[in-house]
Formats: sequence, C-alpha cells, structure tokens
Amino acid sequence: MGKRWKILGVAGIFALVVGAESSNKPKIGALPDKPPEPPDNPTTPEKVELGKLLYFDPRLSGDGSVSCATCHDPNHGWAKKRVMSPAYPENKHFRHSPTVLNVAYNMLMFWDGRAKSLEEQAEKPILSPFEMNMNYDLLEERLKAIPGYVERFKKAFPGEKDPVNIKNVAKAIAAFERTIVCNDSPFDLYMKGDKNAMTPEQVKGMKLFVGKAGCVQCHNGVNFTDDKFHVTGVPKHKLESNALVAATRNFVLREAGFKNPESIDRDLGRYFLTKKEEDKGSFKTPTLRNVSLTPPYMHNGVFKNLDEVIEFYDKGGGNVPNKSKLLKPLNLSDEEKANLRAFLEALTCKNVPVVEEPELPEYKN
Ligand code: HEC
Ligand code: HEC
Repeated sequence: MGKRWKILGVAGIFALVVGAESSNKPKIGALPDKPPEPPDNPTTPEKVELGKLLYFDPRLSGDGSVSCATCHDPNHGWAKKRVMSPAYPENKHFRHSPTVLNVAYNMLMFWDGRAKSLEEQAEKPILSPFEMNMNYDLLEERLKAIPGYVERFKKAFPGEKDPVNIKNVAKAIAAFERTIVCNDSPFDLYMKGDKNAMTPEQVKGMKLFVGKAGCVQCHNGVNFTDDKFHVTGVPKHKLESNALVAATRNFVLREAGFKNPESIDRDLGRYFLTKKEEDKGSFKTPTLRNVSLTPPYMHNGVFKNLDEVIEFYDKGGGNVPNKSKLLKPLNLSDEEKANLRAFLEALTCKNVPVVEEPELPEYKN
C-alpha cells in the first residue's frame, strides 16, 4: 500500500475488516474519517473554499459553459446519470463519467489509471478539447481579471509571489475534492460495531461478496478497489458506434500514437496507453461505495442497473479471449443475487455531501 496510507494509521485500516481468516486474503473495511493528502498540498479552509468556487465555475472552460460539476454533478451522486459523459459543446464523450465522491481515497484516477493524484488529474479536463477546451495561460489571465479570485488565491497560497497559476488551480480543486467524502454507510456502521446497521439480507450479501461471488478479489480495501486493472469483458454499448463518439475516440487514439484508429471500434481502456495486447479491454477496478447512486455502470455505461451488473458477473463476465482468470460462472440463486444487490446498496452513505452551487466572483469592469 505504500506510504500514502501511513497518515490513516495502521489501526484504522486493519482493525475493521471482514473475510480475514488468513492475513493474505483481500479484505474490505470501514473508511477512515479523513482521506490521505500529499505533503505538498495540505488541506486548508482557504484552499477548500477556493477549490469549491473553481469546481463550479464554467469560466474554466473555453466558451464558459462547462464546469467540473457539469460532468460530476452533486445531484447525480457526484457522477452523471447518462451513458456517456457530457462533453464540450458539439462534441460527444466516449466514456461514462465516474463519481468524485470518495475519490480522494483512490490511488489511480481515470478508467485507465493514467493520473496518479487528484492534483495531476484536475489539470487534464481543463485542457481536453472535448471536455473544457481551455488553454492554461489564457485561464490564468482570465482568473487574474477576477479580483475575488486573485484575493482568494493569495489567501490559499500565502507567501507565493504569483499564486494565480494552473498548478494552484489543481491544488485547490483537489483540496475541495478531499472534502467530498462520507463514511456513514450501513456497511461502515456495521464494521464499526453496530451489528443492526445492516439488514440480514445485506449481511448475507456481504458474505457472498467476500466468499462465493468472489467480488472481493478485485473490489477490496476500504474503497472497494484494488487499484489495479482487469479485463472483465464488458459488452460494447451501441453508442460507441455513434459517429461523434467514434470521432472523439479516434482523436484520443491518434494523440496516443495509433496510426489507424478507425480499425478500433470500441473503448479498449488501458490498451490505449500501453499498446500491450493483454491490456485490451482492461479497466481500473472502480469503487463500489455509493454505487446505487450512480447508474448506469461500467466505463461505457452499458448496464442500466445493479441487477444487470450482477447477471453479468453470474455468467462469469463477458466473452473475450484475454478475460481475467478471476472471473468464473457463479451459479447464484435468485435469493443470492438479491442479497448481493442489498449489500451493494448498504455501501451508500446516509449523508452524502450536498453542496449548493456557490455564488461566483465577478470580472472587474
Ligand atoms: C465534459 C465532462 C467532464 C468534465 C467537464 C470534467 N470531467 Fe472529470 N471525468 C469525466 C470523465 C468522462 C472521466 C473518465 C474519463 C477517463 O477515464 O478517461 C472523468 C474522470 C475524473 C476523475 C477520476 C475519477 C476516477 O474514479 O478515476 C476525477 C477525479 C475527475 N474527473 C475530476 C474532475 C474535475 C476536478 C474536473 C474539473 C476541473 C472535471 N473532472 C471535469 C468527465 C468530465
Ligand atoms: C477480476 C476483477 C473483478 C471482479 C472479480 C469483480 N469486479 Fe466488478 N469491476 C471490475 C472492473 C475492472 C470494473 C470496471 C469494468 C469496466 O468498466 O469495463 C468493475 C465494475 C463493477 C461495477 C460498476 C461500477 C461503476 O461505477 O460503474 C460494479 C457494480 C461491480 N463491478 C460489482 C462487482 C460485483 C458485485 C462483483 C462480484 C460478483 C464484482 N464486481 C467482481 C473488476 C472486478
């Protein structure tokens, strides 16, 4: 797990686990109160306040119409309830928008894990031509024309000569994201000792999760992800053949050095980064926390609800030659499937952070 987790305290992680007959077995556990933070970006109230404004500010995008909240919407479980994510006007996105709720506990960002921290991640959508389509230098100038921002950057990054810059934009947004966390799900309460917090069905579902259904092999740790990549064989969504979705995917592929992107007719995940045959269709294991709030599911939003996801796993995943050996047909009964779904629902917080859209500072005349 490395040193990032030290801050959480060893007891925080290892005290509250199930499926732990042997110490090598993967485990799930309650989420500690605070996510880890990097030494060069400690969370302060000033940074969080600034980051919140930036998160909701569409002026971070080229034409002033798209903010982080457009695609990671507090009213949609901090994800977006549509198959493919929204995109910069006139474009279509080629991936489903994941939640930023509790993302602060993750080690890898994006479906293909191409960013390693929230700070690194936050810079990318601002530049992406099909997300926010902005230019960093122009953004800095724009923010400097807003006195309410200049003042707040100074407070958030005291002592810095020229604090209004893209690195600090990313740091402030990351600090805000570290406050979009919750750990009061029935599962967390159960693990902390309230044995009535989960229903008997949910407890049975948890036993299946760590036992017969084998979900814990990949969805483990406090955030239900092993921070690794697997080929599960998720079927193609018909939208992946849409001309504009394909145009975006082809653009991404050409940027990544693929000479003939038209020969690829769907999202192949980590393969786009590594170009290794075994990575074709390999995606990062996503968190399952609050999963009931964020349909549809998978990198391409192909499954409408949790029942469809469970059916997929019951069949042992999809039909691709390089599929993970960890996936096998499960032969779950209807009752077991219902219990498993009940357990996934027990991962939803009682108090999901609600954040009202803040009033944004104005340009000087
Ligand atoms: C136009 C839609 C759009 C906008 C705007 C956008 N995102 Fe995203 N975001 C996505 C999509 C889609 C993904 C997944 C993309 C991928 O995996 O390649 C993503 C991934 C992420 C992730 C990684 C989550 C995970 O579990 O891996 C984080 C964190 C995130 N976005 C934060 C932000 C922040 C902060 C902003 C604003 C600076 C922002 N996003 C703007 C659509 C958007
Ligand atoms: C071999 C590793 C592995 C196993 C075992 C596994 N998963 Fe997954 N899971 C993944 C990966 C990887 C994805 C993302 C796949 C994609 O988007 O193409 C995923 C996606 C999901 C999603 C969608 C989450 C979202 O936000 O879109 C759910 C729900 C889920 N898994 C539940 C389960 C359940 C329940 C089990 C046990 C029956 C299970 N998983 C077993 C690796 C695994």
